[in-house]
Amino acid sequence: MEIKKVGVVGCGLMGRGIVEVTARAGYEVIVSEINQELLDKGMAALDASLVRGVKAGKVTEQEKADTMKRITGTTNTGDFKSCDLVIEAAIENLELKKKIFADLDKICPAQTILATNTSCLSVIDIAAVTKRQDKVLGVHFFNPVPLMRLVELIKTIATSEETLKVARAFGEKVGKEVVIVTDTPGFIVNRLMIPLLIDAIRMLESGTATKEDIDKAVKLGLNHPMGPVALADFIGLDTVYFICNAMYEDLKEPRYAPPMLLKKMVAAGRYGRKSGKGFYEYRQA
Ligand code: CAA
Repeated sequence: MEIKKVGVVGCGLMGRGIVEVTARAGYEVIVSEINQELLDKGMAALDASLVRGVKAGKVTEQEKADTMKRITGTTNTGDFKSCDLVIEAAIENLELKKKIFADLDKICPAQTILATNTSCLSVIDIAAVTKRQDKVLGVHFFNPVPLMRLVELIKTIATSEETLKVARAFGEKVGKEVVIVTDTPGFIVNRLMIPLLIDAIRMLESGTATKEDIDKAVKLGLNHPMGPVALADFIGLDTVYFICNAMYEDLKEPRYAPPMLLKKMVAAGRYGRKSGKGFYEYRQA
């Protein structure tokens, strides 16, 4: 099966990144949002990302124009009926994702592959609401999607080899390196990254070192592009908190339990970059 048209549910940070790389790779893309205002906001941010790409000399003006031409925004999920692959990038809420998949299962033709970009939820729980469990998998991109080189493909106990093969070809065509992982909490990247981030927060909590020194040590001592405290702010502390809770719930291992300081930061609305203040302060929300 060849993918020609791709649907993306959600035009937030991850959704619009997926739309950008997919349309740049030459696919026709339909992206949905729950209302026109959010759709307009997402499309404007997508355009701004491409402008950055043009300014950096990574994208030509012609490529930008061609990319935007391949993208159609909608507030009607019925428009996904013509898609060969639909990637859901809604907020991390299992019940919401189940509802989206139940709807997509009714709207899309039997051969359409349905994928979730969830960072930590069980993919089979989502697949189980459909009558096509063999055509459901996780396709997990990383933020910022246009710049990050990896995509994790998550196979459930029901995902077929054919579905994986088609998803791998798609991942490679959008310019990513592909890894395949079973449907387990946090997959590969978050399973390893979350303990690092929350250990860094525990070090802050216990006064082991300042946030600046923790970040400097990891940047210079391990050659990471960002230190773990800055990375937690970048991902969003509410998101980090959600992921560790979900992983702790599934794995029952204390190392995934969210530190008290993280809980308090979220309670205070200090979500990181997106709210203008997390462990660090940011000029723009
Ligand atoms: N298309 C093409 N190029 C673009 C672009 C676009 N849309 N937008 C920007 N660029 C260009 C920039 O202009 C820049 O060009 P130059 O190198 O020529 O200057 C280049 O791409 C890099 O952009 P930045 O200068 O903004 O990037 P940077 O070097 O400051 O790095 C970063 C920023 C990529 C975020 C880096 O700090 C990094 O890798 N941080 C770690 C990010 C990370 O770990 N992400 C994963 C989070 S976990 C996750 O996402 C999963 C989950 O489930 C929670």
